[in-house]
Amino acid sequence: MTIVIFGGGGDLTHRKLLPALYNLHVDGLLPPQMAIVGVGRKPMTDEAYRDFAKDGVTRFSRRPIDEGAWQSFAAFVFFAAAEIDAEQGLASLGARLDIIEHEHHLAGDRIYYMALPPSLFGPTVKQLDRARLVNRSGSHSARIIVEKPIGRDIESACAINDAIAKVFDEPQIYRIDHYLGKETVQNILVLRFANSIFEPLFNQKYVDHVQITVAEEEGVGTRAGYYEQAGALRDMVQNHMLQLLALVAMEPPHSLDADVIRDEKLQVLKSLRPLDDAAIATNVVRAQYAGYRQEPGVDPASLTETFVALQVFVDNWRWSGVPFFLRTGKRLPQRTSEISVYLKDVPPILFNANPSARLDANVLTIRIQPDEGFSLGISSKRPGPHVDVAPVKMDFHYGAQFNGSSPEAYERLLLDVIAGDPTLFMRRDAVEAAWRWVMPVLDRWATQTAALPQYPAGAWGPAEADRLVESTGRKWRAL
Ligand code: BG6
Repeated sequence: MTIVIFGGGGDLTHRKLLPALYNLHVDGLLPPQMAIVGVGRKPMTDEAYRDFAKDGVTRFSRRPIDEGAWQSFAAFVFFAAAEIDAEQGLASLGARLDIIEHEHHLAGDRIYYMALPPSLFGPTVKQLDRARLVNRSGSHSARIIVEKPIGRDIESACAINDAIAKVFDEPQIYRIDHYLGKETVQNILVLRFANSIFEPLFNQKYVDHVQITVAEEEGVGTRAGYYEQAGALRDMVQNHMLQLLALVAMEPPHSLDADVIRDEKLQVLKSLRPLDDAAIATNVVRAQYAGYRQEPGVDPASLTETFVALQVFVDNWRWSGVPFFLRTGKRLPQRTSEISVYLKDVPPILFNANPSARLDANVLTIRIQPDEGFSLGISSKRPGPHVDVAPVKMDFHYGAQFNGSSPEAYERLLLDVIAGDPTLFMRRDAVEAAWRWVMPVLDRWATQTAALPQYPAGAWGPAEADRLVESTGRKWRAL
């Protein structure tokens, strides 16, 4: 197996991909024979590239670097320069890959990783084809990994998907949504379908509402160039948050086959209630953190949202009438992602009879990060002579139960591409269904010119987000 990383000198490769590959190597999970070839514009020796890789691993690996493991890893890391826009841009890359594969007795199975801006996906794929580097059905496998964002609207997403489809068949294409590689996200299906306690309750009869929060403490940082064109809806909701929602809301698949699971998730995306203008006005809130317009690279008159909250409905039999509240933003009080499923109140009789002292609802909370685990809030009698009911928590922490750090999302995802398992990757139809659903919001926002509501850095978004939930008689969970 040869992994060819376009954008080999970039930030994603430095921070995530090389450290993930190094950790897979330490765990003995990579194929015994392989090569990793970083591809970039500026020529660099293999040695210089290994130094760059070592720096990334030293700074960003979840485990400290071990010199022995590093040496054996570095021995199969290489660099090749290539100009995507040149006429025969990848011809020499092909020759270099052949030599590396020959010298290391590799069969020629390849993974091409597009760690590139999306505007380069199409041209790169075209050049791969022109240089005859893609084998569709021959003896060697060729797979492509595409990073998000896949487009910035439905048209550009379809254009990117079309360009890739000209060269790769759908089963060869692995579209990354790194949230799907997180341990806790993979555990959603296990929690739901490997336990008999929760699944019978996951429907409109028992669930009052669901909250999904993906909060970040950091601001836009050095990514203003990208973020100004994106905003929170494109950056987080169209992909990560809708994927979380799909996993929580999907029907039980009839098998663990990749396409069976992905078919069921797609059904959820297709069941999302369309957002018309009236729904956007009442169910979608966007805002900007104070100080965003002064960040380096940000337009002083920017209308880019750094926070979004939405009330969403899944219009199918199971979830009819159950609101799903989604919120995500930058410069919120803390980095926390979680999903909370609020069960309905018990009848206002017996222990819940006093209107001024209602019992807390049972809440199942799946903590995605940073304190991975889940908890269930339950009402219980406080010890003593009176019947005094208090909320208690059954709590599971990954860290305490399964010693050691969980693998990074990119470790799992890279391993799955090597193994040829597309379950945790986005199929074309799902990407496009998600874009179709967010488009009315993007289109409406594009016509609006007023400055966005602001929230102070370190607050849970604007007052409008609280009103969105409170107007329904509910409250955001305090995190
Ligand atoms: C990325 C977004 O997809 O996810 C970033 O582009 C965001 O803006 C990041 O910061 C969050 O990922 P994680 O794994 O840190 O929650």
